[in-house]
Amino acid sequence: MVVILLGPPGVGKGTQAAVLAQRPGWTHLSTGDLLREARRNETELGAQAQAYMDAGQLVPDALILDLVKEKLSELPEGQHVLFDGFPRTLPQAEALGPVLERLSRQVDRVLVLEAPPEVLVKRLSGRRTCGGCGRIYNVHFDPPSEEGICDRCGTSLTHRKDDREDTVARRLEVYSAQTEPLIRYYEGSPALLVRIQGDQPMDQVEAAVKHGVEEAG
Ligand code: AP5
Repeated sequence: MVVILLGPPGVGKGTQAAVLAQRPGWTHLSTGDLLREARRNETELGAQAQAYMDAGQLVPDALILDLVKEKLSELPEGQHVLFDGFPRTLPQAEALGPVLERLSRQVDRVLVLEAPPEVLVKRLSGRRTCGGCGRIYNVHFDPPSEEGICDRCGTSLTHRKDDREDTVARRLEVYSAQTEPLIRYYEGSPALLVRIQGDQPMDQVEAAVKHGVEEAG
């Protein structure tokens, strides 16, 4: 199966993807995580992406598509894929179809997580991420037991640079202009798209996401 998690910054895509990807046979492909990893490793892709990410802008489609094609080609056959933060523009969505077709695959489900802007801003201001294992926390809604330290691996937690207030506002604008139109694009195939209210407790969002995936399988 190929599932796309679509939705604005801070709606909970990464949180839900991490839960789903614990199931055997699933791979979580987050283009944001892959780009941050490229930056940490100081690769050419990381250097090219840095200025766009820090400004809250999208990284050019060609770079993203090369990255996704490379990652898909490395997957064992039959592995389920959970895209998080990809596709994010119409050209990315239009390119994904033929890429999957060449692998005899298709998009099986698009889960759209939705929440009002004020909720997104509060979540992003409170988000902290573990630099060691990647676990996501929130100082308002899901704090670690010890401030600033990951419960799971003991590494220090960080606040993403692009979660600063002015950059968050830019990211929300970019989402409305460039990514939200994908909802209409996928609505063209009605059985594909499921809308999920992201502004509810995490376990309820989780149940709705699981239901959406199981219904498609
Ligand atoms: P990316 O990393 O993809 O960021 P994003 O889409 O902006 O999404 P976020 O990671 O901010 O939010 P999320 O929905 O995953 O929320 P989370 O689960 O963490 O992209 C970053 C940048 O990379 C982009 O700006 C762009 O430059 C570039 N990029 C990436 N992909 C690209 C592409 N395809 N094309 C071009 N450029 C690309 O949750 C947020 C917080 O809320 C957490 O603290 C969490 O604990 C909390 N939370 C989650 N759910 C709940 C809940 N139900 N109740 C209370 N709190 C909750």
